[in-house]
Amino acid sequence: MSTGDVVLPFDPSGIALDPAKGLGRELYQVLRGRILDGRLGSGTRLPASRELGALLGISRNTVIRAYDQLYAEGFIESRVGDGTYVTSLNKLSTQLPTGLPPGLPTGLSTFHSDDTEDSYSLDTIGSVVRRLQSHHLPSPKAGAPRAFRVGIPAFDQFPFEVWAKLQAGFWRNPSLARLGYGDPAGERELRELIATYLRRSRGLACAAEQIVITQGAQEAISLCAQLLLEQAACVAVENPGYRAAAHALTLAGAQVTGVPVDNEGIDCTVLESLPACRLVYVTPAHQYPTGVTLSLARRLALLEWASRNQGWIIEDDYDGEYRYSGAPLAPLAALDRQARVIYVGTFGKVAFPALRLGYLVLPNSLTTAFARARALHVRHSEVSTQCVMAQFMIQGEFQRHIRRMRRAALARRDALLAAWPQGVPGVGPMPTVSAGLHLALPVQGIERERELIGLAETVGVEINALSDYWLAADDHDRPAPAGLVLGFAAVAPTAIKAACDRLRDVWR
Ligand SMILES: Cc1ncc(COP(=O)(O)O)c(C=O)c1O
Repeated sequence: MSTGDVVLPFDPSGIALDPAKGLGRELYQVLRGRILDGRLGSGTRLPASRELGALLGISRNTVIRAYDQLYAEGFIESRVGDGTYVTSLNKLSTQLPTGLPPGLPTGLSTFHSDDTEDSYSLDTIGSVVRRLQSHHLPSPKAGAPRAFRVGIPAFDQFPFEVWAKLQAGFWRNPSLARLGYGDPAGERELRELIATYLRRSRGLACAAEQIVITQGAQEAISLCAQLLLEQAACVAVENPGYRAAAHALTLAGAQVTGVPVDNEGIDCTVLESLPACRLVYVTPAHQYPTGVTLSLARRLALLEWASRNQGWIIEDDYDGEYRYSGAPLAPLAALDRQARVIYVGTFGKVAFPALRLGYLVLPNSLTTAFARARALHVRHSEVSTQCVMAQFMIQGEFQRHIRRMRRAALARRDALLAAWPQGVPGVGPMPTVSAGLHLALPVQGIERERELIGLAETVGVEINALSDYWLAADDHDRPAPAGLVLGFAAVAPTAIKAACDRLRDVWR
């Protein structure tokens, strides 16, 4: 206590302790709360422990325990031979930033965001927060998979026993060399295996040095957004398109422009009307969400645009493993002779999304910067998942699982095509589905789209609205396309059929 403080009397009224909660802890919390909200002002003299124990009908030791905790945290102080006092507010406030509202903070919720901004001048942080707040980020659908959840593979088919054995094997006798800090680009062995897989299965000639392991495709896209953009740079994205990519780009400060998608994929001629644009995000194998495959002519046009403008193409090959007719298409990156394509892959659609394991294949000129950025963000990905995935691949389980997942997705697609209610007013025909884990079908008008989705929800069927994937800002003259987006891989064929039967009833 500073010598000038006024000594205030202590008022124990209203202190009611609940023995069930632990008396010492409760008394500590009550006193701490009163100090923080100002009811026990700085300089208030607290009763001696014995006296307060008697006043409250509790033991002296209980009071001592509460006082000890308050001492330790600096809320109270003792003066030898003079008792116990609430610490001087002046003393406490010298350790706090200036300009705080009167009283002391009792938790984050007591800060009003405007006060915080004014007093700390957090303009830059404020603008990022504002950007995030103004974006509608749909929350992921929770709970067990239901028909027709989008973005979910047949992960009930995952060989969990194999994975569990590999995990146990890793932890039984981990190499000590692996338990410190690892390579920010990811475990070398896994990167080599991914490079081999991409060379053999996807026709993408790349080396382990070009690969950076990420926490799923989303982190890969987010890193591109942070590292490849000048502030306020123009970025082109497919419209309709993958909203989480557009949001990540916007968060990094980009001016995101939607480019129309037709039955050949993104309309590359529109890029010519965006002279400031140097970055484009695309999903060539299976456009998200329309399901269109980017034609060869458009692939070549896009590569030519990037080469001419020194631009970058982010190729998100999120579900490229799923191709049901014809040979799998070579990624755009495999056609790239100018090192302008950044390839994004994920294990989320072959294993399961919660694994959070993905990768980037980068032009050599970018690998060091991306690895360093990862080192600064997260140091590196968690080691056991990377090593277990490497073993999973070495033992041939990965290739076996891809085949199993393709078969499961195909059976589920066929179940949907067979059971889908035909002739529902306002709903267009089923498209041909030759890739991926979802499909989109047109609906006449947004009103009908909402009505159908609302009715489906009443019978426990999840359907996404195509219009929700629309980036509105740039397309004043074009209305959002209405439609239904259905993921067909999340549940077994019997559940798909049952869901279609319920839709037939409710949409009649
Ligand atoms: C187009 C697209 N890209 C990326 C992702 C995210 O993948 P990850 O879970 O690996 O971040 C998804 C998820 O559904 C997606 O639809």
